[in-house]
Amino acid sequence: MTAPVGLPLWLLAELTYRCPLQCPYCSNPIDYAQYKEELTTGEWFDVFDQARQMGAVQLGFSGGEPLVRQDLEELVAYAHKQGFYTNLITSGMGLTEARIASLKEAGLQHIQISFQASDPSVNNALAGSKHAFEQKYEMSRLVKQYDYPMVLNFVIHRQNIDQIDQIIDLCLELEADTVELAICQFYGWAFENIEGLLPTKEQVVRAERITNEYRKKIEERGIKCKLIFVVPDYYEERPKPCMDGWGKIFLTVAPDGTALPCHAARQLPMQFPNVRQTPLKDIWYDSDSFNHFRGDEWMPDMCQSCPDKERDYGGCRCQAFMLTGDAKNADPVCGKSPYHYLIEEARVNSETPVPFEELRFRNPKNSKRLSDKQVNE
Ligand code: FES
Repeated sequence: MTAPVGLPLWLLAELTYRCPLQCPYCSNPIDYAQYKEELTTGEWFDVFDQARQMGAVQLGFSGGEPLVRQDLEELVAYAHKQGFYTNLITSGMGLTEARIASLKEAGLQHIQISFQASDPSVNNALAGSKHAFEQKYEMSRLVKQYDYPMVLNFVIHRQNIDQIDQIIDLCLELEADTVELAICQFYGWAFENIEGLLPTKEQVVRAERITNEYRKKIEERGIKCKLIFVVPDYYEERPKPCMDGWGKIFLTVAPDGTALPCHAARQLPMQFPNVRQTPLKDIWYDSDSFNHFRGDEWMPDMCQSCPDKERDYGGCRCQAFMLTGDAKNADPVCGKSPYHYLIEEARVNSETPVPFEELRFRNPKNSKRLSDKQVNE
């Protein structure tokens, strides 16, 4: 069945793959270092104009680290003038009080700062920077002072999950309005490092229990802080409706102008259009890649006849590809998938993780080495 194509309500502008940090769970593609030709300021303005005309209302600036773009304030001001609700997703590296003030003046409505851990030394070891924790802490305070909604994001994994209580304490100390305790999803570098990052079932259960206890305390004390706890796909039995459906509301534009239905799609063996050559309207409505997984005709028989297909759309195409080699397969997270054993194997492997020292950090050298390896395999 082919449903009418919706509007690209949510535009994600991945301004750059450059980043001063080296997180081993980064969701950027493994081969990110080969994409160097970033869209110019003017090209981004054109993308914003086209997306807005097509009905986009929310614009996220991400990366890499979007603050390495010195035209960020200009881009925000332009998007704000066009009527977008604007959101900056940042590590906080490169942020200064002057930039917080000028982004506010440019109309930025929302800043989300990510931390690696509550313990400065763990944070800095994961980030690959000696001063990361101090900088993030200081910038979070300033973001609050400048009256932005305070949103903190912690990617939770095996290396920090047992400190969940200290993490929440830190968020309360910083007076966060919203905290995302998102257990790592395994895309990009995180998938490369899954054997060192996937927590055990017991760790996940404990972390969720502690989060619930904090929620109760927070409510009793009348503190305004929303804790969002995200369980990883690997401990679910039903797949998530990834991106709310392929090509339904999300449109990502990568630093080099490649248009994608999700941040992880460029690894799929498909040709994705580029905003430098193709108008956004044609990309969204007419391109083979955006139409490829719309509706249900592409689904295997098992998903076609499943009553949940309207809810989960067969799960995540990228996860199906990464685990089974074919993006058309049902997401192996689904308990009915013949590939679900791969998820069960990963759960068993989480009992004997690889040590921290063996994690592959996201940096240009590792990017080149791992992508050369992929090509040769
Ligand atoms: Fe690409 Fe789920 S991340 S479809």
